[in-house]
Amino acid sequence: MSGEVHVIDHPLVQHKLTIMRKKETSTASFRRLLGEVSLLLGYEVTRNLPLVMEEIETPLAQMQAPLLEGKKVLIVSILRAGTGILDGILQLMPSARVGHLGLYRDPKTLKPVEYYCKLPEDISERSVLVVDPMLATGHSAAAAIERLKERKPKDLKFLCLLAAPEGIKYFHDHHPDVPIYTAAVDDYLNEKGYIVPGLGDAGDRIFGTK
Ligand code: URA
Repeated sequence: MSGEVHVIDHPLVQHKLTIMRKKETSTASFRRLLGEVSLLLGYEVTRNLPLVMEEIETPLAQMQAPLLEGKKVLIVSILRAGTGILDGILQLMPSARVGHLGLYRDPKTLKPVEYYCKLPEDISERSVLVVDPMLATGHSAAAAIERLKERKPKDLKFLCLLAAPEGIKYFHDHHPDVPIYTAAVDDYLNEKGYIVPGLGDAGDRIFGTK
């Protein structure tokens, strides 16, 4: 069974992504660009958020005007690289709620191991957006979604910067109901679990740890 994949091919997103991919791009530029791209991706991901009409008063007249319906969106960042996307999305939705899920990839098995989980108590009425720049094997993303489904959110979306076809397949084999939003789908995953051509290790490039 396969699910929805939305490739956000806006020219500004594609231009910024190309600069991020370049190996000579500095940590400062990479981080700034990821913030900018995330804001643009966030704009697309939130396109269908439901609205409700409310009576307001402008300086000139009363009117019925649209406002976002329901509880604030919950953004769940998969540590550590998810932080890079989170910052951009929060510029767009400053009052969103934020959860963190710490999952690292065991370097031998490439399987996710959870080491941290902090979410708002009740997420049953919230739309949840899970963010992680790289959908590589798809194992961490699928594990994160599984964890969140236990808490029965209103709906779930997954947002990344780059996806590998293998990661998309694994993710949608496990969660065909969760749409993926990405700036690009790259060629393949190499034997070390890196997306090719990709941009390298997103966490290292955001935080300058290599
Ligand atoms: N995680 C990364 O940071 N980069 C990849 O290419 C794959 C997983």
